Amino acid sequence: MPTPLLRNLDPRYYVDPAIHAAERQAIFKRHWQVLGPVSQVAEPGQYLAVELAGWKLFVLRGKDGVLRAFHNVCRHRGARLLTEGSGRCEVLRCPYHLWLYDQEGRLRKAPWFGEDPGFDVADWSLEPISLDTWRGLLFVAIAPETGLLEQLGDLPEEVADYPLESFTAVGTERFVMRSNWKTYTDNFVEGYHIPGIHPAFHKVIEFDGFETVARRGVVRMTAPQKGGSIYGGKWLWMWPGWTLSVFQGGMNTSRINPLAVDETELVYHFYFADLSEAAAPHRQRTIDTNIAIVREDFGICEHTQKNYASGAYRPGPLSPKHESSVAYFQGKVLDAIEPRRAAAE
Ligand code: FES
Ligand SMILES: [Fe+2]
Repeated sequence: MPTPLLRNLDPRYYVDPAIHAAERQAIFKRHWQVLGPVSQVAEPGQYLAVELAGWKLFVLRGKDGVLRAFHNVCRHRGARLLTEGSGRCEVLRCPYHLWLYDQEGRLRKAPWFGEDPGFDVADWSLEPISLDTWRGLLFVAIAPETGLLEQLGDLPEEVADYPLESFTAVGTERFVMRSNWKTYTDNFVEGYHIPGIHPAFHKVIEFDGFETVARRGVVRMTAPQKGGSIYGGKWLWMWPGWTLSVFQGGMNTSRINPLAVDETELVYHFYFADLSEAAAPHRQRTIDTNIAIVREDFGICEHTQKNYASGAYRPGPLSPKHESSVAYFQGKVLDAIEPRRAAAE
């Protein structure tokens, strides 16, 4: 009996709002997500406010030097406290009715609230979430099912020889594409599309030597360089949705953030060892080359997404040589949102 073909996931997983809602609960709420370099919140009073699969969250370093993370949701009537982005604050003042919280998330004042013996400011602190750091990177999780290290799986071993924390983050880029987060991830974890979608990149690697290997929580892609390439030689994707790519003298990270069932945000950070003025053109070229390749994937993901939505696509076969990591990722998604399937195996 020949081994059955690996099959791509049914397109409904990419377009059904009910699946998207299930993924938010089972995947994004319950796993750690990278927010980029810890250096974004290096100083007391610095904050970083983000969206994570629809949840508004922020990280703030208090005057006591401690990093804390909270839902960016006022306990009064639910307004957003901080605008997305980074900045500094002494206290947190809700813009709606001016409730005032301290840097530890405690409600200090509810001005003009009036007398109500049942109301005590001590009962209305901001809702905290989990926060951790690893090798200079910042992570948050709303209700993590495991500790960060356990979720990182084989990643620490995979990058043990790279001086990640010696690199300094110098640039960030944000992209939005009209495709499901899995359409983009399927694309990220295979190199099969490189000849078709990235012709310039194809020229500078030995495509026959391109490898994608699924490890525990990590997909590693490597390709021998033909020389002259500044687009790295090792690309990593981590469950459930972030990437780390190392290149000569630096690295980048990205967070794959679902905005809607058919809309995905990518937040990239670029980090370098050499911050000298002389190396500035090289850093810029590296960033530009990386960004150009990232952008090349958007069109194909957006059109594939439309075909999934149209109803015209039935699951096709996955290449055992090139797309085993696509099957690995899709299997992880199914195990998370259909736990009965995982238990039956
Ligand atoms: S919603 Fe924040 S003070 Fe009213
Ligand atoms: Fe690509």
